[in-house]
Amino acid sequence: MRRSVIAGTGSYLPAKILTNHDLAKMVDTSDEWIVERSGIRQRHIAADGEKTSDLAIAAAHKALAAAGIKGADIDLIVVATATPDQTFPATAARVQAALARPGIPSFDVQAVCSGFVYGLATADNFIKAGQANTVLLIGAEVFSRILDWKDRATCVLFGDGAGAVVLKAADGKGTPADQGVLSTHLHSDGRHHDMLYVDGGPSTTQLAGHIRMKGKEVFRHAVVNLAATVEEALAANALPVSAIDWLVPHQANRRILDSTADKLGLDPSKVVITVDKHANTSAASIPLALDTAVGDGRIKRGDLLLLEAMGGGFTWGSALVRF
Ligand code: ACO
Repeated sequence: MRRSVIAGTGSYLPAKILTNHDLAKMVDTSDEWIVERSGIRQRHIAADGEKTSDLAIAAAHKALAAAGIKGADIDLIVVATATPDQTFPATAARVQAALARPGIPSFDVQAVCSGFVYGLATADNFIKAGQANTVLLIGAEVFSRILDWKDRATCVLFGDGAGAVVLKAADGKGTPADQGVLSTHLHSDGRHHDMLYVDGGPSTTQLAGHIRMKGKEVFRHAVVNLAATVEEALAANALPVSAIDWLVPHQANRRILDSTADKLGLDPSKVVITVDKHANTSAASIPLALDTAVGDGRIKRGDLLLLEAMGGGFTWGSALVRF
């Protein structure tokens, strides 16, 4: 059975750090409120002129180096982003021009905070179908550009960044002992489109717009949906919660991470947490967390990883991966 193995990871964060104390000078908020409600202490903010594709390309270079391959070896590029450089062409095309062979397919995936899991499912299916052997998958966002910096309910929660993985085809036995992506599960429910959305777009206002959110409703749905998708991933592979070495969740909010771990009965020390330093970087948050824990030695080859995310749409999903 063909499997998609994570051959290397990489990430990039813009140099500028905005702390909660900095934000308290801009809107009526405080470090205490933000830390207590979200666990966030700081976020990175892209420099003037620094685009999503710049972040994506920087993260990709590191993932390629970690995988020991060159840009010319890539045969598919998928970029998960809700903040593309332009409405079109796809940000993935910019990445292709910067570091891969002309002619290979490249496209963006838009599932907001679930974008990386959607991108991973897409890449895995291309590999399983034999249509790709080496895929560059990136999650990259510049959410600072779609924040309403006067809305304290949203502007304190998000940040900018990018994370990337190189996926390579490998032969497996078709059991949970295989290295690579073991399963992916994706969901959406557009009835809740107005709970977390951007109030603009080409066919509505012709402007990029700003994030709007009903925080309490998002929180409630997130905890229920995330626990359900983690459970379905384990059931599909006939594995108990105790088999998970690391939960690598989308980093929206510390309280959502804690509630999800608690609902599952998962040891909190098995949850990779970066939301304190990165805030919510949407599609970039899972590959950023993954690269952080691979880089500091927590995640090792052979470990079983459970990736999960929920975002605007609503969209949500999970992936079980043996690293
Ligand atoms: N600083 C100080 N006070 C604030 C701030 C702020 N930044 N933002 C809101 N408040 C105030 C509100 O005005 C309100 O005041 P009031 O009682 O006088 O009306 C009070 O704090 C409580 O506001 P709530 O919105 O009820 O606060 P809540 O406890 O629900 O926390 C939060 C808000 C953090 C947004 C929470 O609902 C949450 O985490 N929701 C999940 C949303 C999320 O993570 N979204 C990310 C994208 S989705 C995803 O990735 C899963």
